[in-house]
Amino acid sequence: MNEFSDLVLKLLEASENHEYYRDKECINLIASEGLKSPAVKQIMSLSTDLEGRYAEGENDLEGHVAKRYYQGQKYMREIENYSTDLIKRLFNCEWADIRLVSGTHANLATFKGLSLTSKNRKMVVTPLSCGAHISHDYAGLAGSVLGLENINHVYNIDEFNIDPDKSAHVIRAAKPGIVTFGGSLFLFPHPIKELKTVAKEVGAFIAYDASHVLGLIAGGIFQDPFGEGADFITSSTHKTFPGPQGGVILGNPKNKRLEKAIKAIQFAIFPLSTSNTHLGRLPALGIASLEMKMYGKDLAQQTVRNAQIAGQYLYENGAKVLCESKGFTRSHQIAVEVDNFGGGKKVAQNLEEANIILNKNLLPYNDQDDRDNPSGLRIGFQDVTRRGFMESDIKHLCDLILTVMMEKKKPAEVKQSVIELKNEFNQIKYGFQNLEEAIKNCKSLVK
Ligand SMILES: Cc1ncc(COP(=O)(O)O)c(C=O)c1O
Repeated sequence: MNEFSDLVLKLLEASENHEYYRDKECINLIASEGLKSPAVKQIMSLSTDLEGRYAEGENDLEGHVAKRYYQGQKYMREIENYSTDLIKRLFNCEWADIRLVSGTHANLATFKGLSLTSKNRKMVVTPLSCGAHISHDYAGLAGSVLGLENINHVYNIDEFNIDPDKSAHVIRAAKPGIVTFGGSLFLFPHPIKELKTVAKEVGAFIAYDASHVLGLIAGGIFQDPFGEGADFITSSTHKTFPGPQGGVILGNPKNKRLEKAIKAIQFAIFPLSTSNTHLGRLPALGIASLEMKMYGKDLAQQTVRNAQIAGQYLYENGAKVLCESKGFTRSHQIAVEVDNFGGGKKVAQNLEEANIILNKNLLPYNDQDDRDNPSGLRIGFQDVTRRGFMESDIKHLCDLILTVMMEKKKPAEVKQSVIELKNEFNQIKYGFQNLEEAIKNCKSLVK
């Protein structure tokens, strides 16, 4: 066999192995990953022509298709418009753009559009080690691609949150064009309400990155960014929101300045940063929206409850789960300091050997450069919740985590118990098993 065909066969084998390993044998606790329902997967497998098409062009202030440069758009235009309208209704806003291929892309277009509108290159952000995403940071998209000047919010480590009073001083002194909220290590709602006035006073737009918590917001919990004062929400569509991998930007063209900002963001999407927009995901985004409309509240509440139960149980059994005095979390994730068990890198690797998949994470008091071996673990509960884990299952899972973390047994000895636990939860809850079921349920919706 020649080397080329050998590579193809190995590729196919690795792909098949991956599907079995992560979907059937591992318990997935990475806080940034989502779990699609069978109905969402089914519509994706039925959208294969769409997946190969292009729809370059402009959209209007409702987020609808305004102009396309290629022929053959008859149904694509409808698909994009319907999917946009579903998202707008779900999040109760007047404008949405779903052409973004990821959350990073949503940030790129938003930060670019808002800095063009405000003619101001300064952006106030959460420090990276305190939970911001790399795309907010001077070392990532914001600084190194867009050339924005980052100024940090002041972070209160005890509160595990932005310090509103001190950040107000920072915003007043820096006079940025954008103030951002939201993040990747994101346990408690950010103080949008408290900082809205000072942001407006200096003429800054407020951008809220909901990538991690979009599903919680769809379920009506965690926080209400628009109600609290955000101008724009940027997000992935595949973390707590259980849709296809992609991105979205939401907003409201309430006045001329916001209209101008939306137009600038649209310009940053096309022509500045897209050609094809991965159209094959759009019908699936609509089905995921229906699932969140019907089950979002229950799913969001149970996800947070499971995260809190895990926080309490791990804490009571010897793990240093952060923020005990604040109930550990109000989101889908918890943060655990594991220096006394060998550090984030070692513990995450040991857990991986036991088929428990999570990630090591910088904690706010870590040096930003300690990314290879930070003190923490970030543990997300959206996947196990969607599989139906309830309190006793979460505690069982925590026992397995503690056994590995405290080296009471070798990871390989725990692995079989992890696989057995996983095998009890191979059906997706809070969603549809197939499209037929989605359509039947859809017809029962009043509006
Ligand atoms: C807060 C935040 N924003 C943006 C992103 C990037 O999202 P994507 O992977 O969809 O580009 C992430 C990724 O985890 C994130 O945590």
